Amino acid sequence: GAARGAHAERFGGQLVLVTGAASGIGRATAFAFAEAGARVVAVDRDAEGAARTAEMSRLIGAPEAWGEAVDVSDEEAMEKLADRVATEYGVVDVLVNNAGIGLSGSFLQTTSADWKKVLDVNLWGVIHGCRLFGRQMAERGQGGHIVNTASAAAYQPSKALPAYSTSKAAVLMLSECLRAELAGQGIGVSAICPGFVNTNITSTARFAGVDAAEEQRRQKKTARLYGLRNYPPEKVADAILRAVVRNQAVVPVTPEARGLRFMS
Ligand code: NAI
Repeated sequence: GAARGAHAERFGGQLVLVTGAASGIGRATAFAFAEAGARVVAVDRDAEGAARTAEMSRLIGAPEAWGEAVDVSDEEAMEKLADRVATEYGVVDVLVNNAGIGLSGSFLQTTSADWKKVLDVNLWGVIHGCRLFGRQMAERGQGGHIVNTASAAAYQPSKALPAYSTSKAAVLMLSECLRAELAGQGIGVSAICPGFVNTNITSTARFAGVDAAEEQRRQKKTARLYGLRNYPPEKVADAILRAVVRNQAVVPVTPEARGLRFMS
């Protein structure tokens, strides 16, 4: 019923795993599924934050919820997580690969180390999640859904975010490829592409090739911009649940993202 959230019928009792669940869009998504009565696995490299999201999820309506401290870019840790989840909680019905980090700075100023950091989390983290949990879904043979948080940056070239945008463009493409591969098995794959959303990503984002003072100044400026747009993560969470229900392929969220065309 309505008291259990708008999507209770679809998600009640289902097992939903969300990465990057300690903060922002991931946390709001965990809460939205919890409200719909899903069992929630909240994954984040921030152990305390993951535990807090799990605790809140139970209060909101998840019959069961667990916090898991895992770095999504660590393949071995992700393999262990996939095994542990399958053994202890069951096969995941909905996987949300959402963990991500920001990096600004011009292409020429971005070092290989910075490129690697961004690709390790934003791209490889999604690859590990898709392969490990996608295999479990396919083997079980009862369908499922994978949602990957890409970004409007995936199809909007910019001078300010070359590494981040490249990582998100890759996430968008791998989502489409996996969608084609799994369609016959009743497993849906969606790529969510938000524009500016008011979260912590601006305060944790790094800037390539600039000194600390300038980095602080630019972070403040970016945070102000995100605050001005003031698009709440809860609305992205709504879009994620809707994408699963409607099995949507690519979902632009926020007004500026909806206005973009691929490689415009
Ligand atoms: P956030 O910074 O509030 O949340 C990101 C979460 O991911 C944090 O809890 C962080 O600890 C976790 N995380 C980071 N690296 C991790 C790793 N290696 N392993 C496990 N957890 C890790 O940021 P936000 O905005 O909620 O970001 C969520 C996703 O949405 C990201 O993929 C981001 O790129 C994407 N996105 C955000 C937009 C925005 O304007 N905020 C716009 C478009 C996409």
